[in-house]
Parts: sequence; structure tokens; C-alpha cells
Amino acid sequence: MSTYILMKILESAPKRYDLGIRLLTGGRLDKVYDRLASHIKEGDKVLDIGCGTGALSIRAAQKGGRVKGIDINSQMLEIAQIWANKLNLTEQIELCEMGIAELDREEADSYDVMMSGLCFSELDDDELSFTLREAKRIIKPGGLLLVADEVRPEKIYKKIINGLRRIFFGAIVFIITQTTTKALKNLPEKIRDSGFDIKSIKINRGENFIELIARKP
Ligand SMILES: C[S@@+](CC[C@H](N)C(=O)[O-])C[C@H]1O[C@@H](n2cnc3c(N)ncnc32)[C@H](O)[C@@H]1O
Repeated sequence: MSTYILMKILESAPKRYDLGIRLLTGGRLDKVYDRLASHIKEGDKVLDIGCGTGALSIRAAQKGGRVKGIDINSQMLEIAQIWANKLNLTEQIELCEMGIAELDREEADSYDVMMSGLCFSELDDDELSFTLREAKRIIKPGGLLLVADEVRPEKIYKKIINGLRRIFFGAIVFIITQTTTKALKNLPEKIRDSGFDIKSIKINRGENFIELIARKP
């Protein structure tokens, strides 16, 4: 979990983000994102929320998706653009400096897949509710919502360990970046309550990281 809090520090130095994330997660996040991207089909229209340096957008485009990646951090987007150029994916990826608050500009029933890696935990409760409501509106019937993010453990002893780590690492991150992340509470329930059917949930051993696949009926 400390890993995912430390990411906030990396975000404040986008040039080091990709290498830092790989070192911090020992490549585990790459595997998670590969699994999520395996649900993208050739020609799918995909929206990547909080795309950052493009880890998920690039994978989705390599699977044949037509991707729009949105993020509020222009420096992260610049790096995503460099990757898209290097990998000859500029035709398939459109990167936009845009926040979740502007999702209401997107057409209803217009995306086959909406995905988000480690961005929901940066939103406050109202922003997350808004994003899930918009997801339900924007995704086509039968389309997918793919999420990988930090969550709060259920077991009491894991909650305590997690809580202590968060206090320590959260304080360091706040001192450096003046921001912090918020492990998500009841994410599957929130997604279900927004009108999605949950297709699968994978939670790690520490119970603090979720991979979730949901479908709009
Ligand atoms: C931890 S990074 C993850 C980036 C990328 N998805 C990845 O997994 O490498 C979280 C990203 O969410 C973006 N973000 C945070 N709040 C946002 C908002 N309200 N709208 C859009 N993007 C946001 C941040 O700028 C950051 O690039």
C-alpha cells in the first residue's frame, strides 16, 4: 500500500514516474494493467480516466482500441504523448488535458470501455460518485468498466496495519506534494449501486488493491 501512496511523490516528478512505478511495484502493476487491457477488442472505443503517462492507454491501443486518455496533469500527458509517438500509436490515442468534472460533455452510450488505473483513489467522494454516474451514462449497454486501484482492507488486523502505514507514508507524501491518496471504501458496492453488474473482482493478499471488471447491463 505504501507503494501506492509513494506514487503521489512520483506524480510530482512525471519524468521519473514510469521508472519509479516499475521499481516500486516490482512490475506487479504492469501485470495488472496487462490483464485489464486483455478485455479490449479491436476497434473498441475506450476512455482512460486519469491516464497519467499512458500505461493503460498504450496497452488498450496496442490491443486495437481507439483510446481517449484524459488527465488534469499536463506534464504526465506530455510523457504519454512521447510514448504514443515512440510506439507509433498516435492514430489510435487522443490525449486530452481534461478532468473528470468535464465528463458530462461526452456523448451518452458512446464508449465500449471506460477504464481507470489508480485515479479513483485521488478523487473525493462526490467526484467518485459523479464519475461513476457519468460512466453509467457514457458507456454503451453491454460495455465494460475496468478499474485497478487502492482499497481499504476488510479484515480488522489488515485494516490496522494498513492504517499505520498510511499515517507514516501519507505524512511523508503530504510534506512533499501537499496532496495524498484515499484508499477506496466499498468500491464494488458503489459500482453496483451505480447500475453496473460486477463481472469479476481480484483482491491482492494484503487486501489493499483491487482489479475490478464491471458491465453496463
Ligand atoms: C497515480 S496516477 C495514475 C496514472 C495512470 N493511470 C497510471 O496508472 O500510470 C493518477 C492520475 O490521475 C490524475 N487525476 C487526478 N485527479 C484527476 C481528475 N479529477 N481528473 C482527471 N485526472 C485526474 C492525476 O493527474 C494522475 O495523472
